[in-house]
Amino acid sequence: MSDAQPAGDGPSAHHVVLVGMMGSGKTTVGRRVAAVLGRPFADSDEIIEARTGRSVAEIFAAEGEPAFRTIETDVLGECLDAPEPTVIAAAGGVVLEAENRRRLVEAGTVVWLKVPVGTLVVRVAGSTHRPLLEDDPAGTLATLSEAREALYLEVADLSLDASQPLDHVVSCIIDLVHQRQVRDATEGPSGSPEEVVS
Ligand code: S3P
Repeated sequence: MSDAQPAGDGPSAHHVVLVGMMGSGKTTVGRRVAAVLGRPFADSDEIIEARTGRSVAEIFAAEGEPAFRTIETDVLGECLDAPEPTVIAAAGGVVLEAENRRRLVEAGTVVWLKVPVGTLVVRVAGSTHRPLLEDDPAGTLATLSEAREALYLEVADLSLDASQPLDHVVSCIIDLVHQRQVRDATEGPSGSPEEVVS
């Protein structure tokens, strides 16, 4: 976004990818967007868990975060390689890896679900499946949010205030996808970069 990257025109150029912090609503929003668009939905953490037969927390505990990130990069790449336009909920940490960011800017429409840290803290309260939040969730969310902000900005075509009601967030994304379909039909897929709205 900051580099004004238009959507690419490769085989995966029309995916809708949701990025953002833990608790930003990527899975919930993504399922709804996929249902409205009639597209398949993929959630990177769910695929990792199904494939390995272990939870994300178990992988972190047994093999450590770097091993998890390697699996995550493989799974994200596979999701983005899918020939069929897909709605993808990409786990919060995918932007840490430069290769993932490079793939994301070519992926189609990348939406950053932005949520204030205080709201994230409320949303993840009681969750036991996020190993990074086992100790001091509020402090960790604040630190990670700040550290990752530039990375989400780098890959996103659109940032949305995802603390707004779910229906509104979903309809903003659907509107953007429809606008892009019209634009691509009239100007080709490498038209002007998207505006950023919040
Ligand atoms: C992580 C996000 C989690 C999960 C893991 C690490 C992160 O996914 O992959 O706990 O580093 O932000 P969600 O963003 O789906 O919660």
